[in-house]
Amino acid sequence: MTTSRLSTALSTGALSRPEGRVAVFGPPPGTDLSALPREGLTLVSQDAVASAGWQAAGYDVTRAPEGAFAAALVVLPRAREAQKALIAQAATLAPLLIVDGQKHDGVDATLKAMKARAPIAGSLSKAHGKLFWTDGASFADWVARDRDVGGFVTRPGVFSADGPDKGSLALAEILPPLRGCIADIGAGWGFLARHIFASDAVEALHLVETDAVALDCARVNVTDPRALFHWADATSWRPPGPLDAVVSNPPFHVGRAGDPGLGRAFIAAAARMLGPSGSFWMVANRHLPYEVELDTAFAEVAEAGGTGGFKVIHARKPRHIRPRRP
Ligand SMILES: C[S@@+](CC[C@H](N)C(=O)[O-])C[C@H]1O[C@@H](n2cnc3c(N)ncnc32)[C@H](O)[C@@H]1O
Repeated sequence: MTTSRLSTALSTGALSRPEGRVAVFGPPPGTDLSALPREGLTLVSQDAVASAGWQAAGYDVTRAPEGAFAAALVVLPRAREAQKALIAQAATLAPLLIVDGQKHDGVDATLKAMKARAPIAGSLSKAHGKLFWTDGASFADWVARDRDVGGFVTRPGVFSADGPDKGSLALAEILPPLRGCIADIGAGWGFLARHIFASDAVEALHLVETDAVALDCARVNVTDPRALFHWADATSWRPPGPLDAVVSNPPFHVGRAGDPGLGRAFIAAAARMLGPSGSFWMVANRHLPYEVELDTAFAEVAEAGGTGGFKVIHARKPRHIRPRRP
């Protein structure tokens, strides 16, 4: 587990125990934080699902840490630019900056880049990763910057930050003009949402997204007054009333690992959100096995088109299966 490196560094005395509050940036659910006393910890997370999990476990969680900290620990995400952005933010918060990362997430390259600009006070390699720390360094020029990708704003680390995803483009091409109250679940930075608003018959569109950074971009990209933004877990979010349509390019991995389970949970959630004559429009990689879940959740399922790599599914007549009471 990631911060076993931190336990080792603290217990061997290689790293002195920070005296004061510690901010931990981006710990994925399940990260072992037991090396640090919980009362002095503030977790910084932009992810609604992770934040809810940490809060339920009794941790103090925020998007924007405030006040004085003795140390900031960054648990490296995968995307290089997102790593830099977190390091820049963490370095402004506390004198001691600790970075923990896995080899497969490029921790060696990050260490090299940091070494080139600041002295590294100590480091430790263990369990296919590295922990290292630096004192009083600034990485101000690594701060996250907005990007313009064909008229949309994105930020480092959001899904498909370089421009519209091929699957989303395939879905947008096939999607007919929609009407009524709609949700885009896993709305990202708003590519599909902006497309959906081309229809005047849309009354409201709920953009539901777990990544607060992506949702902030969506607020910039989608200025239509019919848009409603929800920083939430789409698999448990409930609309104010039954919807006429749900649209989604669902997530297909959790962390590094591909996981059709999350896409399946999106399908079940979409069915629960819809009224009896509602429609679900979804795009997925052709190889992802969603058919059983679609047939369980909807009475009518058809492939509406797609590309060599992606299938666009139109599902109707949600079955509204209620969980059995024990
Ligand atoms: C494949 S991307 C599609 C993004 C966007 N709709 C587009 O077309 O560019 C899936 C999105 O789902 C979000 N996501 C992942 N898990 C989620 C969850 N449990 N609840 C809400 N959004 C989630 C991800 O952050 C990501 O933005």
